[in-house]
Amino acid sequence: MSNRVALVTGGAQGIGKGIATALGADGFRVAVADLNLAVAEETAKAISAAGGEAIAVEVDVTSTESVQAAVATIQHELGPIEVVVNNAGWDDFMPFVKTTPEFWDKILDVNFKGALRVIHAVVPGMAERGFGRVINIGSDAGRVGSSMEAVYSGAKGGIIAFTKTLAREVAGKGITANTVCPGPTDTPALRKFADGAGGGDAEKVIAGMTRAVPMKRLGTPEDIGPAVAFFASDGAGFVTGQTLSVSGGLTMA
Ligand SMILES: NC(=O)c1ccc[n+]([C@@H]2O[C@H](COP(=O)([O-])OP(=O)(O)OC[C@H]3O[C@@H](n4cnc5c(N)ncnc54)[C@H](O)[C@@H]3O)[C@@H](O)[C@H]2O)c1
Repeated sequence: MSNRVALVTGGAQGIGKGIATALGADGFRVAVADLNLAVAEETAKAISAAGGEAIAVEVDVTSTESVQAAVATIQHELGPIEVVVNNAGWDDFMPFVKTTPEFWDKILDVNFKGALRVIHAVVPGMAERGFGRVINIGSDAGRVGSSMEAVYSGAKGGIIAFTKTLAREVAGKGITANTVCPGPTDTPALRKFADGAGGGDAEKVIAGMTRAVPMKRLGTPEDIGPAVAFFASDGAGFVTGQTLSVSGGLTMA
C-alpha cells in the first residue's frame, strides 16, 4: 500500500473516477479535481466510504490561476503532490472540415495545454523532493487516428510525444512520465457521442465500436484504473516515456 498524495484531474466521473478509485484502494491519498465540484465530492466520499482517503477540489485545467490555486489547496490539505494524473478531457465529434479555429483552441486548451499547466505547477516540487510520477491520459486516437476526432487525435498525439520528452528531461530527478491510452471506454462522454452519432440509437453505435475490439467489449473505467496505478507505484520507478494502450487489443503498436 502506498501513502503518497495523488492528484487526478477530471476525477469526478468516467475514467477519472475509475483512476481515483483504484489509487484510493491502493492507499494513495487522492485529490479528485474537477470542473464539477458536486460530482467530485460524491466520488471523494465514495473513496472514503470504501476505506480510502480522498478530497474533492474544484479546478478548471484551461485556467493557469485555477490550476495553481487547486495545487496550493491540495498541498495544504494533503501535503506535497507526488503523483499527478492528467485525465481531464473534452471532445465533440465532427469531420475536420466542419471544425472552426475556436473549436481547435478549446480542444487544445483542455486536452493538451491542460496537462501542461498542471505539470508545470507540480513538477518543480517533485524534482526538489527527488520523486514524482506523471501519468497522462492519451487515447488510441492519438496513436492510430479516429474518424470525426481529427483535432482531438492531434492533441492526444501531442500528449504522447510531450510525455516522452518530459520523461527524458526529468529522468535524473526521480520522476517518471508515461501515457495510458484508453480505447473506446464506457463513460458519460462516450454515451453522449454514441447518442449524437447514432441519431438517438446509441446502442447501434456502441455495437459497431465493440465489433472492432478483439475482446468484443468496450473498456470500463475499472479497466483503466489499474494500469494507471501501476505507473503510479513505487515499483514502476524504472519505467518511463512509455505509451500503454488499454483497449482490449484494439491497438497493438
Ligand atoms: N471514453 C473514452 O472512450 C475515451 C477513450 C480514450 C481516451 N479517453 C480520455 O479519457 C479521459 C476521460 O474521459 P471520459 O470518457 O471519462 O470523459 P467524461 O466526460 O466522462 O469525464 C471527463 C471529466 O473531466 C472533467 N473536465 C472536463 N473539462 C475539464 C476542465 N477544463 N477542467 C477540469 N475538469 C474537466 C469533466 O467534468 C468530467 O468529470 C479524457 O482525457 C479522454 O480524452 C476517453
